[in-house]
Amino acid sequence: MSTLITNIAELMTQDLEHRVLKNAAMVIEGERIAWLGSAAEAPAADDAVDAGSRAVLPGWVDSHTHLVFAGDRTAEFEARMAGESYSAGGIAVTMDATRRASDFDLTRLAMARVSEAVSQGTTYLETKTGYGLDVEHEARSARIASTVADEVTYLGAHLVPAGTDAEAYTDLVCGPMLDAVRPYVRWADVFCEEGAFTAEQSRRVLKACRAAGLGIRVHGNQLGEGPGVQLAVELGAASVDHVNYLSAGDVAALADSWSGWTPGTGTGVRGTVATCLPACDLSTRQPLAPGRELLDAGVQVALASNCNPGTSYTSSMAFNVATAVLQMRLSIHEAVRAATYGGALAVHRETGHDADGARAVGSLAVGHRADLHMLNAPSATHLAYRPGMPLTYAVWRAGVRAR
Ligand code: NIG
Repeated sequence: MSTLITNIAELMTQDLEHRVLKNAAMVIEGERIAWLGSAAEAPAADDAVDAGSRAVLPGWVDSHTHLVFAGDRTAEFEARMAGESYSAGGIAVTMDATRRASDFDLTRLAMARVSEAVSQGTTYLETKTGYGLDVEHEARSARIASTVADEVTYLGAHLVPAGTDAEAYTDLVCGPMLDAVRPYVRWADVFCEEGAFTAEQSRRVLKACRAAGLGIRVHGNQLGEGPGVQLAVELGAASVDHVNYLSAGDVAALADSWSGWTPGTGTGVRGTVATCLPACDLSTRQPLAPGRELLDAGVQVALASNCNPGTSYTSSMAFNVATAVLQMRLSIHEAVRAATYGGALAVHRETGHDADGARAVGSLAVGHRADLHMLNAPSATHLAYRPGMPLTYAVWRAGVRAR
């Protein structure tokens, strides 16, 4: 079954050539993109959809969320808006509520959050454990996450639960807890920050997880300058997320990690993606991550929602893109790229086509997964030009109309 989508005013592909086609069309066939180009040259298909001069771009790739949780932290948010500062301690409040929730409720809540995200144009999504914080509840979170998200990350090293010795807890994260979550996860993460895990504890966790075959990523430099970025680069992490407080050396290390990569062909050795989380920065009143400086230095950047109950209770990628344009000085093309191709790079899903097991997400090209986001607007610029407006008109996820 093939579908021709025609009369597309602007087709922002975010492919390797950064093509933006006007008066375009595309054909999707099953889960894949079969053709794209000028509407005047479009081939016939079984079915046709008139885009009505709207814009089409890749579905968002949200590479950083924490969706498996119960409870909410409205009171903490109100206190923060009244001047309190964010600290990692709030994670324990969500841990308590999450442990108390039934499997059914936790699954239902996570599914509802995924469907909220999809309805706003997200077509590929990572989520993490991190609110269980013992063997039983981390394994349960990982299992539930694996039923609702495309990529699952083990974040047992989110917080040392009160009354637990930090070294003994780190041993648990590196041993029995890792064994229990391993069947459900592809990635591991650590919150390397004052009040969470030290550099040495983080290194231990990341090395143990890497030895167990997991890809690694780091929550780093969120609340102050610290060792997270350097550790991520040193260990070859796929991404370091937050990156609010960066020294010149941190930026240089991130840029250097991409020296073996050829952006024009998307080949070579991937470095460490810097994942900026602007909604979180606003909600915690932290300085916005220096996305402009990172891009100018040659770092590959992702934008993600960081949807979680403590620091960023939104899955709106459009909000993050608008903020990146309006306040972080990214161009619209750069911001959309960071929220699509950049997110895919951060989860190593930017490549793959007909001959491969998994199709590329985050960009539109023949053979890639047909993940499309049609806006009720003639160009992607409207995402920043009309911030806060409900611009998602239609969504296809792996070729299936999801909205
Ligand atoms: O990415 N920084 C650590 N983890 C989350 C916040 C978790 C929470 O406060 O519940 C984040 O911002």
